[in-house]
Amino acid sequence: MSERMKEIVALCKRRGFIFPASEIYGGINGFWDYGPLGTELKNNVRDLWWQAMVKCPPVGPDGQPVSIFGLDAAIIQNPKSWEASGHVGGFSDPMVDCKETKLRYRADHLFVMLHNDQTEQDEIKEGALLVAFLQDASLDDIQNRLEKLGKKYNQLRALHPNSYRKVPFTDERVQKVLGSVIGPDAKEPGTLTQPKQFNLMFHTFVGAAAGDENKAYLRPETCGPIFLNFNNVIDSCRGRVPFGIAQIGKAFRNEVTPRNFVFRSREFEQMELEWFCDEKDVPMWFEFWLDQRKSWWSSLGINLANLHFNDIDKKELAHYSQRTVDIEYKFPFTDPGFGELEGVAHRGNFDLTQHEKFSGNKMDYFDQVNNLRFKPHVIEPSTGLTRAVLTVLCEAYTVDESRPSGMYLNFKPAVAPVKAAILPLTAKDEHPKIATDLYLKLRNDYMIDLDIKQNIGKRYARQDEIGTPYCFTIDDQTVADQTVTVRERNTMKQDRIALDQVGAYLAKNLKAF
Ligand code: GAP
Repeated sequence: MSERMKEIVALCKRRGFIFPASEIYGGINGFWDYGPLGTELKNNVRDLWWQAMVKCPPVGPDGQPVSIFGLDAAIIQNPKSWEASGHVGGFSDPMVDCKETKLRYRADHLFVMLHNDQTEQDEIKEGALLVAFLQDASLDDIQNRLEKLGKKYNQLRALHPNSYRKVPFTDERVQKVLGSVIGPDAKEPGTLTQPKQFNLMFHTFVGAAAGDENKAYLRPETCGPIFLNFNNVIDSCRGRVPFGIAQIGKAFRNEVTPRNFVFRSREFEQMELEWFCDEKDVPMWFEFWLDQRKSWWSSLGINLANLHFNDIDKKELAHYSQRTVDIEYKFPFTDPGFGELEGVAHRGNFDLTQHEKFSGNKMDYFDQVNNLRFKPHVIEPSTGLTRAVLTVLCEAYTVDESRPSGMYLNFKPAVAPVKAAILPLTAKDEHPKIATDLYLKLRNDYMIDLDIKQNIGKRYARQDEIGTPYCFTIDDQTVADQTVTVRERNTMKQDRIALDQVGAYLAKNLKAF
């Protein structure tokens, strides 16, 4: 893990953003708990998405606001629905085990280093040792490992990674010589198994009996039940194509290798919109939603220079997709590369067709004006809420050696878990009483932290670390003239304002921040 990422993980633990789940029992790989500040941060990101999609959806290309309905469906649905969607049969990743270290890897996340000489040939030379690495290994990691292995294996000695090329582990030529491959954490060659498909769906049993007939699945994506409720939403809310159905909620995937903090976890949250439109309008709506999503990420404070739009190659599209553009972010663990943050997919009418076939219920839309019955096509902007939280944290992390904390979180006020802190200078005299009164006045409108303990420098440092935009300090002068000190997070500039103007100050400045 990069140094920056280690700092972010440590900060999240220290300040109560994110904790490893079941930590006192040694944790459980791929599961995370959101602490007091992480919950606020996550709720803020969630609410901003809901606001942009459901409460206040964008104005469409025709100048009219588009129509999007919200949904909160069950996590467990009839298991047949996951057969129809293709998940029971095909939602799997290729998995590789290492017999030496007992570690497990995604085969498509591994590569081997192959000497430039060798990549020109169709076959890999007999007896040539190949070293496997994880896809995010840095040049330093590769060099250090080659040097270490070179002490034991002459042919790897003094090799420089630059004279090597990366070849996917799944390459046929590599699979033919598995006996010569040294696994990513192994010391001996020949300990990696052939890739095996591994279904990512978590299952459980509904009711008392634990047999196959009672087997059910935790949803692997939130969009599934949106399609199941297509008719219900149209009938109950008079939905007219084009329109959308949006959902935020938990999703579960038994990931082979959960990695990089909350980036890939086994329990996570998604925010998904299924936009139903006429097939002929797909190109227009695809561009529209891409644009909307770009603006939304920007409104969260994400620098567009850190985003990358990847039009996925036709050969690599998911089974349901006719086109997908991944919105990728430059995470500290992918830098200088990018990692997926959101996918905008054209799903055709795959889902409605499949559910009609498997359920026997018509999944059509009836256009009363033109007296036409058809299955609308779907554009799906789909992102992870928990991955969005990680993105916002990575983007906000700002090093500043000049302040005691050495850094601050440069959150946009809308996402900041705490909007303002109220800090009585001392725990005696009238300071705490005035501070508590101010806190009680403001807390209906804002998330406010009333912090009475420790010296003022340490308290400012803590607020910088958690990204609080404003701190108000109550001191002797407050008692004398009813003014307070306001300190702005990014500039650390301090001003004096009237105590009874703090609410108005926040209303004005949080907006303009
Ligand atoms: N309905 C389409 C769908 O689920 P996906 O690319 O598998 O597509 C969409 O997931 C988004 O969900 C991803 O871009 C990512 O932000 C988030 N996501 C997927 N798997 C995740 C995981 N294991 N942990 C955290 N977030 C994940």
